[in-house]
Amino acid sequence: MKKIEGYSKLTKEQKIDWLVDTYFNSDESVKTELTSYWHNDAKTQQTFDEFAENTLTNMYTPFGIAPNFLINNKLYSLPMAIEESSVVAAMSKAAKYWYDKGGFKTEILGVTKIGQVHFKYDGNHQKLKTHFAEIKKELLENGKYITINMDARGGGVLDIDLIDMTEFEANYFQLKVSFDTCDSMGANFINTVLEEYANTLKDIVARNENLEGKVYIIMSIVSNYTPNCVARAWVECKVEELGSFGQISAQEFAEKMRTAVRIAEVDPHRATTHNKGIYNGVDAVIIATGNDFRAVEACGHTYAARNGRYASLTHCSVENGMFKFWIDLPLAVGTIGGLTQLHPLVKRSLQILESPNAKELMQICAVAGLAQNFAALQAMTTVGIQQGHMKMHLLNILNHLEATDEEKKYALEYFKDKIVSFTTTRVMLEQLRSVEKEMK
Ligand code: MEV
Repeated sequence: MKKIEGYSKLTKEQKIDWLVDTYFNSDESVKTELTSYWHNDAKTQQTFDEFAENTLTNMYTPFGIAPNFLINNKLYSLPMAIEESSVVAAMSKAAKYWYDKGGFKTEILGVTKIGQVHFKYDGNHQKLKTHFAEIKKELLENGKYITINMDARGGGVLDIDLIDMTEFEANYFQLKVSFDTCDSMGANFINTVLEEYANTLKDIVARNENLEGKVYIIMSIVSNYTPNCVARAWVECKVEELGSFGQISAQEFAEKMRTAVRIAEVDPHRATTHNKGIYNGVDAVIIATGNDFRAVEACGHTYAARNGRYASLTHCSVENGMFKFWIDLPLAVGTIGGLTQLHPLVKRSLQILESPNAKELMQICAVAGLAQNFAALQAMTTVGIQQGHMKMHLLNILNHLEATDEEKKYALEYFKDKIVSFTTTRVMLEQLRSVEKEMK
């Protein structure tokens, strides 16, 4: 294979041709396949093309809803974009279960976002700290022309702190800037403000006759760790209202749930899987609403380790006959800007959610995480996770083996009391097909 120069300058068709020639032996059917995923409206396709670079086609992900979510006494259907089987079903089940018990409750614990200017200062450190109040005033004044619109919306820059990091790296300081970005996720706004502050910081320090040292900017960037931009969601009911699960009484179920959460609070191996399940729910809503799931997840995992050990994001108590299950989840999300006005399905998702503001979306996402975790733990502590998983898993295997609708129907019945695996499914299909052949 030859290195290619200027790939990004080729037209979309040329890019596909190069790919098909290079990796698929110039097989025309691959080209036809790739282009078959284009949207049939050229303008819509162009919108998708322009989200990223070197776009060739679209990769489909299922988009569905989990209905019946009662959140603060309002009923929602949660839009979800996810390829993993059972997640939407589990969420819907949890929504239905808690609907009868008063639903989910939520509150916002904070909305502060953070950005950092990382820099070095080679003068007297103490003097820099002493004169920081003047520097801060000037930074805020100078940056006003950028923050004016956000200020008018009730947000903007909340504060600027000087952080001494010299114990880790010679002469290293940070401007730690806190923001309220209202209904936008705000990363672009934050980065613009930070770069402006970085430029003016150099000048302000150079002009200040009390400071003899120079500022040397390393970089300016939003921090995706937002421990003070957090939504809380919870469910609670009397233990007996939990109901029994087969042989498992309500009391036993409550204790098993509490212990299952406790295990994830003390064991990072379990906590990782436990939190992964939480993000099954959260990410699906985050993606459907055009938000950045990498930022949201990175933040959540750091938050989960904030006390020095990676631990569960959810918590559970069984006290005085009450079962309580809750989550505090950091969520930097937006309902304006970014993809929200551009991606047609994102627009629809926000309509399905009845045009939430960022705080409402934070609460909805926290509920999605809590509901998913409740459903996973409920299944694991009662019937086991495979029972629910297997039907969808079986369908995926059947699709892979190109089963017909008739064969799928037969297989669903056949596997009701048998263990599903790729091999057992393949063997079953082979037998079925050979019997059918003989009968013809
Ligand atoms: C699978 O995607 C998610 C679970 O493993 C989560 C959990 O174990 O809590 C079922």
